[in-house]
This record gives sequence, C-alpha cells and structure tokens, in this order.
Amino acid sequence: MIRVLKDKHIVLGVTGSIAAFKAAGLASQLTQAGANVDVVMTREAAQFITPLTLESLTHRPVVTDVMALLANSEIGHVALGRGADLLLVAPATAHTIAKLALGLADDAVSATALDTRAPLVIAPAMETGMWEHAATRENVQKLAARGAVVVEPDVGHLASGASGQGRLAELDDIIDVVRATLGRGGDLAGRKIVVTAGGTQEPMDPVRVIANHSSGKMGFALAECARDRGARVTLIAGTTALRTPRGMEFMTAKQACEMQDAVLGSITDADALIMAAAVADFRPARAEEQKIKKGDTDTLTLQLVKNPDILRQVKAWREQTHHAMIVVGFAAETQDLVANAQAKLQAKQLDLIVANPVPQSFGSDKEQAILIERGGPMREMPPLTKEELAEEILGFIAKRLQTPLL
Ligand code: PMT
Repeated sequence: MIRVLKDKHIVLGVTGSIAAFKAAGLASQLTQAGANVDVVMTREAAQFITPLTLESLTHRPVVTDVMALLANSEIGHVALGRGADLLLVAPATAHTIAKLALGLADDAVSATALDTRAPLVIAPAMETGMWEHAATRENVQKLAARGAVVVEPDVGHLASGASGQGRLAELDDIIDVVRATLGRGGDLAGRKIVVTAGGTQEPMDPVRVIANHSSGKMGFALAECARDRGARVTLIAGTTALRTPRGMEFMTAKQACEMQDAVLGSITDADALIMAAAVADFRPARAEEQKIKKGDTDTLTLQLVKNPDILRQVKAWREQTHHAMIVVGFAAETQDLVANAQAKLQAKQLDLIVANPVPQSFGSDKEQAILIERGGPMREMPPLTKEELAEEILGFIAKRLQTPLL
C-alpha cells in the first residue's frame, strides 16, 4: 500500500493509442497500491485493449460509451468524474488532448474530463511529428495553463518504427506524478526536506573504490513519501541503482566530500534534513592516477584518511547561523545498537535517530528499527517496509514542524 494512494478514487481515462495496452499496468499498479480505479475508455482505445482486461484488474465496471451511460448516472461519467480525487488520462492521444483543450465532450474520456473538478494528469503518447506539431504544443500549453499536469512523453522507439519523442512515459514515472499531485496540500506542504540516500564510493584508482552495501531504498522511500505529503524535496543520492524519482530536485554525490558540499548547499532554506546515506568514514589518502598493479607482492597497504562527518558539519553550521531545522540521522550497527545510536544522537545533536541492526537493514525491503528521540521516548518498531518506516519518520517531522522550533 502507498499511503497517498490508499482509498483514493482515481479515474483512468484510456484513449486510442497503441500504448493503450500499458493502461493495464497502470490500472494494476494503482489498484495494488490501494487506489480505487475506475476506467473510462474511448471506443478507439477499446480496440487496442479490451474493457474486460481492465475490469479484471480493477474489479470495477469499465465505461466505454458515453451515450449508453447517460442513462445510468450512478456509474456514468458524471458520477465518476464528480467523485474522483484525480483524473489520469494515459495514454492521451493528440486527438484527445485537442478535445480536452477545446472542451469537447463526445466520448467517455472527454466528457468525464469536462465535468470533473479533480486534478488532471495527462500522459501523452503519439508519433513525434504529432507531438511537435504547433497545434499539439498549443493544446498542451493551454491545458497546463489551466492546471493540468503533463507527464512529457519519453524519447525512444515508436510504433511506426521511427525513434523520437512520443513514447508513453514509464509507468513508474506516471505514478510518481499521480502521487505528487494527490499529495499537494499534505501535512508537509510548503516545507523543504533534504534527504540523503545510498552509499558512497571512495576511489583507490581509476577502477577500484571503497564502497558499502547501501542500496538507497531507505532514503528514496523517505524522499518519495515526503514528496507525497506535499514537501519540496531535495534528494541527494550516493551510489544506488534505483530509478530517479519524479517530483523532486535530484542530485548525485558519490563521494563523502561531494555529499558534504551538496548537503551544506541545500539546507540553507530547509525545514528538515534526513541523513539516511551510509557515508564512508574514511577514504584512501590519495586516488592513484593509474590502475594499481598487482606486482609480485602478496599484500597491499592502503593509507586512509578521515572523511568529514557531514552531520557534525551541519551541527556547527546550525550553531553559527541559528537556522531552525529538524535533523534526523540513522545508525546502522552490528552491536550495542541502542547505546551506539544514543551516542550519535548526542554527538551530532540530532532530533531523532533511527537505529537499525546490520545486516538486516542494508539492501532489504524491510527494517526493524528503533526510533530514539532526543529527550523523548524510544520506540521499538515492528518489522516495517521501508515505505512504512519512512511514513513514521515523516510523521515525527510533520508533528515537530507544527510546534515552534527552538
Ligand atoms: O540504503 P538501504 O539499503 O535501504 O539501507 C539503509 C541504511 C541501512 C543504509 C540506512 O538506513 C542507514 O542506517 N544509514 C546510516 C548508515 C550508518 O552506518 O551510518 P553511521 O552510523 O556511519 O552514521 C551515523 C549518521 O551520520 C548517519 O545518519 C550518516 O548519514 C551520518 N554520517 C556518517 C558518516 C559521515 N562521514 N558523515 C555523516 O553525516
């Protein structure tokens, strides 16, 4: 379940593009994430994908014929649009975009769009020439000016065999935009949250690095959930193989020193900083310019120097500037979990530390963490997904931000 999607009523409008088959993936993912999805289709869309497929995935009737449905307003487009939390038109053809811009209402999708007052998200899919045509450009701009959120099509292989911009955006990207749109006005609206994620890599030579097992899942979950609660998010990612999420500022910082610069440069107007990254404490004293050769020796001695402790730098900066900000740190420990985490909470002057045992935390989808507040209670959490744990941490931040900062 995804909190911002749970029990939300999403109307998915499907129009007659070859990408209509991808609507099945969207309907399925949104439903699995907890949303109630009603599908409305144009007749052309129903030639690419059967209503039965979408009904089977959403467990709800699919609307294809605007005239037939007028007779039954309970399940007709009028009722659908009025009860919706969001209308997502995906894929949206050039033709449907033109109809929406003009305010036409002669099929189930355009009629629903004209009647609803719910936020509108459009994911266009068409040949490059149609996407670039002045008429489509004007229509898209018109819709955007009216408040529609447009998920720009990707560049890539098109149905015609050509390559260019026009491919339906990746489903995860569309769902990101839906989540961000639904989250506008959430309990972190108007707040800026900086999140670090993933591991760092300290180079030994042009081919070797000192790294760790952090996948970035925890930090990315925090950034996505903060965005879904309305926050303006800056995600500073170290090493990770995860997809770049939409709806936030995204920066990469693979080495500890780069991450320090990125954090100190981003927090000047932040309301909260969450350091979920596993930052290397040491780096090779020098990164060799050429690959280190094995040679004839059996051992290699590497001299390491200490990296800056970013959270300690943040503490010093806060003391200097008196910038009011909530700071959350993580501690991944192999022993004395609580004592070590408490020591870090004090030394780095954190508001909250998330203590998690190694090796369970690195790379996994679940965490069994202990949340330790400064001067407050200690909560041992049950096993939670990283999204669920992220919501707990953001709930703490949202609550703290409602009370004046010292
Ligand atoms: O990425 P995943 O696979 O999802 O795994 C998540 C995680 C286990 C990496 C994450 O939840 C976590 O625990 N991150 C902190 C890892 C750690 O060992 O931190 P630490 O004990 O070295 O540091 C304590 C805190 O100081 C952390 O908030 C860290 O970001 C910060 N730090 C550490 C070193 C350094 N030079 N500067 C820092 O600011």
